[in-house]
Amino acid sequence: MATFQLNSFLATQQARVEALLSERVERLGPAGTPPKLVEAMRYSLLAGGKRLRPVLCLSFADLVARESTVSAVAGDAACALEYVHTYSLVHDDLPAMDNDDYRRGRLTNHKVYGESLAILSGDALLTEAFTLVASGPEPMRAALCRELAVASGAAGMVGGQVLDTAEDRPSALDYLIRLHRMKTGALIRAACRMGVLASGGDADALARADTYGDAVGLAFQIADDVLDVTATAAELGKPAGADAAAGRFTFPAVVGLEASRELAAQKVAEAIAAVRPLEGEDGPLAALARYTVERKS
Ligand code: IPE
Ligand code: IPE
Ligand code: MG
Ligand code: MG
Ligand code: MG
Repeated sequence: MATFQLNSFLATQQARVEALLSERVERLGPAGTPPKLVEAMRYSLLAGGKRLRPVLCLSFADLVARESTVSAVAGDAACALEYVHTYSLVHDDLPAMDNDDYRRGRLTNHKVYGESLAILSGDALLTEAFTLVASGPEPMRAALCRELAVASGAAGMVGGQVLDTAEDRPSALDYLIRLHRMKTGALIRAACRMGVLASGGDADALARADTYGDAVGLAFQIADDVLDVTATAAELGKPAGADAAAGRFTFPAVVGLEASRELAAQKVAEAIAAVRPLEGEDGPLAALARYTVERKS
């Protein structure tokens, strides 16, 4: 029976992420930066959100850190992950992609700023993520940039979005799993790996973060598909029922709700088993893994 107090842990970690983001967002607009661009970037970045990727990054960084406080590198990595994730949402919502009007409980970026600035503020968030990770003397920053780039790029999130929107996609489970792993799983897996790398963790911790992140990443997107069917727009802060209405290729559409939930639960169990040697029974990573599928938004 799990007794770890996830709610208070999550609230504390989310507040920590908000503080780290605020500090860095302050630096977004040096002289010459168009103020409207900075406003559009801040609009989506500081609109709430669960901050799961930075929380996972910091949780791994804390777990493997030899000192009691983790370095600025972990904070930069955590924020960079949220910059990239936010950019992916701004572009995902565009009329040429999912064409959604609400995100994080407010109008989508293009509804407020227009398509051109929405595209450009997404571009800027992606690019500024690398400014963050690459700025500083610590030697692991190069490896962190590479992790983030590979997870976000053609073989990761962007590639997954292409598989998701391909007109000739086959209605096959293995294709669906591959696309979910890429479009959502890759960045979540990178978040876990980057936490370990930022704190100088060893090869065993990195391998465990990899297994955990891969499983949680897949479970998270399956849950996102399930929530589109089972939750309300008010709970989600984004449209509900939109996937079926748009004929999107989702887990419930291909295997049904029950099998989707079963696969997600199996992935959560795999994730928990991978980190048990690191955190023991009933730690924050196990609780976060369960949260990915038990969440209501
Ligand atoms: C939504 O991500 C898009 C997916 C990759 C499934 P989140 O559910 O993490 O969205 P926020 O950050 O909490 O708004
Ligand atoms: C988006 O998947 C994954 C991204 C890389 C942004 P979805 O299209 O299912 O995300 P939501 O449901 O709009 O948040
Ligand atoms: Mg989409
Ligand atoms: Mg979408
Ligand atoms: Mg979705």
